[in-house]
Amino acid sequence: MLGAMDAMMNLVDPLAAVAELLAAAAAVCPHDASRVALATATRDGRPSVRYVLAKEIDARGVVFYTSYASRKGRELEENPFAALAFHWWETGVQVRLEGPIERVSAEESDAYFASRPRGSRIGAWASPQSAVIPDRAFLEARVREVEARYEGDVPRPDTWGGYRLVPERIELWQDRVSRLHDRAFFERVDGRWRCERLAP
Ligand SMILES: Cc1cc2nc3c(=O)[nH]c(=O)nc-3n(C[C@H](O)[C@H](O)[C@H](O)COP(=O)(O)O)c2cc1C
Repeated sequence: MLGAMDAMMNLVDPLAAVAELLAAAAAVCPHDASRVALATATRDGRPSVRYVLAKEIDARGVVFYTSYASRKGRELEENPFAALAFHWWETGVQVRLEGPIERVSAEESDAYFASRPRGSRIGAWASPQSAVIPDRAFLEARVREVEARYEGDVPRPDTWGGYRLVPERIELWQDRVSRLHDRAFFERVDGRWRCERLAP
């Protein structure tokens, strides 16, 4: 991306560039390049962060899937704004996105849920994500219960689905020598992306 940063500054659609940067990282990363840190906050602004997997990036935003009843889900319901940060050592790129969050449609969540391996679908029912549980045996017993309940198809729980972060701010960061990194910062103003270069 050396020299490419100047081209980045003129991007009409930095979100498309994020998808390209993810694809470029995925081509060379030994691990899942879609891993992304997700920051949420409570109503009174106390932050929390954890990794999720970005499952879709398109013109509408970045989609990840989780339990709506989890800690992150509860925080997103009371304060529907979030931030994401990707980093790939292999390409020396960091991407940051910030904006409001919306639930994806039930149809989209159904389609993604149906594409998951059976074990993951069972797990979505069995695990009350973020709740305190007594021990591992509790979880394993729940898995057995759910397996017995759904011998064939496993439907999507109502409490599980996708969120889409709709970016209002995007930063594309490229590692450069002597910590003189390139930073292109985009902000959506009146439906258009305005770009500024930030000091590293
Ligand atoms: C690499 C990685 C990917 C993960 N992907 C997801 C994910 O896509 N969805 C999810 O709900 N949890 C995912 N997790 C687990 C979360 O980090 C977290 O433990 C869980 O969602 C509960 O978070 P919460 O209590 O803050 O809601 C992932 C963890 C790691 C380490």
